[in-house]
Amino acid sequence: MERWDGGRIRERAGELAELLADTVAGGASVGFPGPLGHAEAVAWWRERAAATAEGRLAVWAALDGTGRVAGTVSLAHPDKPNSRHRAELVKLMVHRSARGRGLGRRLLTTAEEAAAAAGITLLHLDTETDSPAERLYRSAGWTRAGVIPDYALSPAGELRPTTLYFKRLDVRRPGG
Ligand SMILES: CC(C)(COP(=O)(O)OP(=O)(O)OC[C@H]1O[C@@H](n2cnc3c(N)ncnc32)[C@H](O)[C@@H]1OP(=O)(O)O)[C@@H](O)C(=O)NCCC(=O)NCCS
Repeated sequence: MERWDGGRIRERAGELAELLADTVAGGASVGFPGPLGHAEAVAWWRERAAATAEGRLAVWAALDGTGRVAGTVSLAHPDKPNSRHRAELVKLMVHRSARGRGLGRRLLTTAEEAAAAAGITLLHLDTETDSPAERLYRSAGWTRAGVIPDYALSPAGELRPTTLYFKRLDVRRPGG
């Protein structure tokens, strides 16, 4: 598991784009309703590189045995001065060829531990209702806050609900 800065994300945008396109092709609701072209996916990751360089985003990549990107997760930091204690967990994705072997859970744990180490005490996210990801979050101790209907267009062209989750983090203070 590696945390990547803006420069590394830009360098590896092609591989990250392949992972994003594979996730969309697999039918997951990660922001794109239809097939995602390589150029569009690369452009999307270049925007993430800029956000990371500005400190608004933290991105981790998991590599497979050959050193290629097999999964990723990000934390988005709000720019509001009253919200520095929280972050949104976004874009947890594992390539279809690498799923079911614990990588998604390891990425989630990595982001949670890094957030706690940075003094963040609250994480939140939204995920498509009844997706495999929802089961992962529940089993990792996240609390379901509620469901918003008709939240996002699915690859099948239907409006699907999203479920909101949060998790309080145990921040260990020096001497505590
Ligand atoms: C969600 C996702 C990241 C899980 O990655 P993964 O590497 O397959 O996950 P893991 O092998 O670590 O499995 C973790 C848990 O997820 C759940 N899970 C994973 N795949 C599942 C499936 N197909 N059906 C039901 N539960 C599943 C299980 O609870 C599993 O725990 P267990 O192995 O102890 O039973 C992956 O399926 C993915 O990339 N999905 C598409 C993108 C997406 O929906 N991301 C979330 C956006 S918020």
